[in-house]
Amino acid sequence: MANPESSLFRNRFHLSPPRGWMNDPNGFSLFENRYHLFYQYNPRDTVWGPMHWGHAVSPDLLDWTDLPIALTPDSKYDAGGCFSGSALTVDGMHALFYTGHLDPHPSVPGSRRETQCLAIGDGSRYTKDPSNPVIDERQLPSGLPSGDFRDPKVWREGERWLCIAVHRQSDGFGQILLFESADLRSWSLVGPVLRNRGELGGMWECPDIFRLEDKEVLVWSVMNPARQETGFRNLHGAVWATGALDRETGMFAEESRTEIDKGPDFYAPQTVATPDGRVVMIAWMQMWERSSPSRELGLDWTGCMTLPREVFLSGGRLCQRPIRELERYRGPCHSASSRVEGAVAFPELVGQCLDLEVVLGSGTASRCGLLLYLGDGERTLLEWDRAGGIFTLDRSLSGHPIRNLTAGAPECQVYRAVTGTADELRLRLVLDRSALEIFLQDGEIAMACTLFPRETSRGIRVFAEGGFIECSLNWWNLDGIPGAVQ
Ligand code: FRU
Repeated sequence: MANPESSLFRNRFHLSPPRGWMNDPNGFSLFENRYHLFYQYNPRDTVWGPMHWGHAVSPDLLDWTDLPIALTPDSKYDAGGCFSGSALTVDGMHALFYTGHLDPHPSVPGSRRETQCLAIGDGSRYTKDPSNPVIDERQLPSGLPSGDFRDPKVWREGERWLCIAVHRQSDGFGQILLFESADLRSWSLVGPVLRNRGELGGMWECPDIFRLEDKEVLVWSVMNPARQETGFRNLHGAVWATGALDRETGMFAEESRTEIDKGPDFYAPQTVATPDGRVVMIAWMQMWERSSPSRELGLDWTGCMTLPREVFLSGGRLCQRPIRELERYRGPCHSASSRVEGAVAFPELVGQCLDLEVVLGSGTASRCGLLLYLGDGERTLLEWDRAGGIFTLDRSLSGHPIRNLTAGAPECQVYRAVTGTADELRLRLVLDRSALEIFLQDGEIAMACTLFPRETSRGIRVFAEGGFIECSLNWWNLDGIPGAVQ
């Protein structure tokens, strides 16, 4: 019999694994008119384990259908896992680039080996290439270790293919390297794209690159960045930088670098270009070294992806919003407005799958915001300190606890972002059972957050302290969404 909590928490339109464990998105691509999203997948348990590539397809990035596992770690060069990578179309076929991971003696330093591998398929079945691995330690400057050398992103440019991958330098810090090839099978190093000189965390992971208007945007994930008051509050984070990649030297001339998402659950993003010219990004909506509520509650899956998000530039700043296809699945629009002093409940605002727009407008309040998933001792707090220009997400009372598993790691309940002083706060919230995504000021700030509240904790209130606030709401139920798993 299905666990009753499954329908409470199981996401309807955030992709989650049929069962087992999911982490990074992989091979996010458009092939033969369907979007393909692969993912790091342990089909056998709800914890990280032997990495396969799970596979789902969708016509619109929201209505996903599961396909058979695409890659299994069963070759001599990937027996320890088929790690993250990318996909592209080559001569009408779907080519996957991934990392073959070998770790036969985890306690023996230097015994780990990571290489880049190729598999070719028709969109549902994939065959590993006989020339694997296609990039290994021979392409690295001599003597450099290949224990952390992974996550290839490959794309075509004119007559050649380019690949960026991460590598751990001898000093332990991560770097991104650029390789080139004329035939996808023999590769040579162009040079370092970007090196961590100790300014941002330790090892880097999962690079991606895309073009947006006249800019190039480099994306990567960062392990253990130093924690700040209003940023990098997670154990690990993801950043993007605008700039330009020099194809001859490999160097990326960086203009500005920012954290992509300020919430608790966002890592390893990848992008795809849509035929109508949009860049759409998706990320793993969870975090390493954390307890898994769905596992602890006895459910048979752990992990989901974020909503696909459109990436755009506004005033030179990288912004994101839910893909517009989501609007097709909206029910009728409901509206309400209120002058709030103290707290106001909106009893007609109910549902586990909601698209909600809130404007906290003029008024005298010093602090205002929303209480979501409100019930017997539980609540998720979204608070705007208007004078200080700081937005806070607090999930310390959000339901089933989420704990850091690493001893001594900072607590992971309170997340903040700088809004600056503004006349109003515009919020867009997308709720999908245990997934909540928050977009502020038309996508300047994003926060992804997972929550596991009790079934009775479903109230929503707007509050204002130290004065009043004019508040208006529009919302749509998203219950009509197809949802792969019920
Ligand atoms: C990032 C990552 C990748 C690796 C994969 C293994 O989350 O550590 O660098 O390829 O996960 O599952």
